[in-house]
Amino acid sequence: MNILVVYYSLTNITRSVAEIFKENFSKKHSVTLFELKTDPEFKSNNIKKDFKIVQLPELKGYDIVIVGGPVWAFGADFPILKFLELVENAEEKEFILFVTMAFPFKWMGGIRALSMMEKILKEKDVKVLEKFCINRMFKNVENEAKKVSENILSLIRT
Ligand SMILES: Cc1cc2nc3c(=O)[nH]c(=O)nc-3n(C[C@H](O)[C@H](O)[C@H](O)COP(=O)(O)O)c2cc1C
Repeated sequence: MNILVVYYSLTNITRSVAEIFKENFSKKHSVTLFELKTDPEFKSNNIKKDFKIVQLPELKGYDIVIVGGPVWAFGADFPILKFLELVENAEEKEFILFVTMAFPFKWMGGIRALSMMEKILKEKDVKVLEKFCINRMFKNVENEAKKVSENILSLIRT
């Protein structure tokens, strides 16, 4: 399978998860990572809704598109929402969504963030295969990312 992992990361956590995904998936699949960047670039003190995405990934040629970002304010982060709004002609692809979050329970923003992301795709008739939440508090992100990557591998094996 040709897999594209599109992610946004403010403080490098989601990036580290995407890199672990790539390492694990690459044994059996062709994997490309694409990091979304914003203009202006966000720091934790200048996040706002008025921004542009610097460059969009080309989805053509990929069977599976995995999209992930951090939970912000009990919802999805703005760059990922904007990217999903801009997705076009993806009815033939299968999407998998993931978020990373600081709090220990997925109901502390993770579930809502993933629903917000899924809703945008469903309105475009894009299939969401599965959604994953990586909680960081009391957990080792690397181990959690490996577990999620194994889950994803089992989903796309066929
Ligand atoms: C503006 C902002 C809002 C956040 N809101 C939440 C939240 O509602 N729930 C939560 O668990 N973590 C929240 N976090 C923490 C991030 O989701 C978490 O640290 C994430 O793993 C960071 O990923 P990143 O390094 O890829 O940006 C927030 C972080 C920021 C910067």
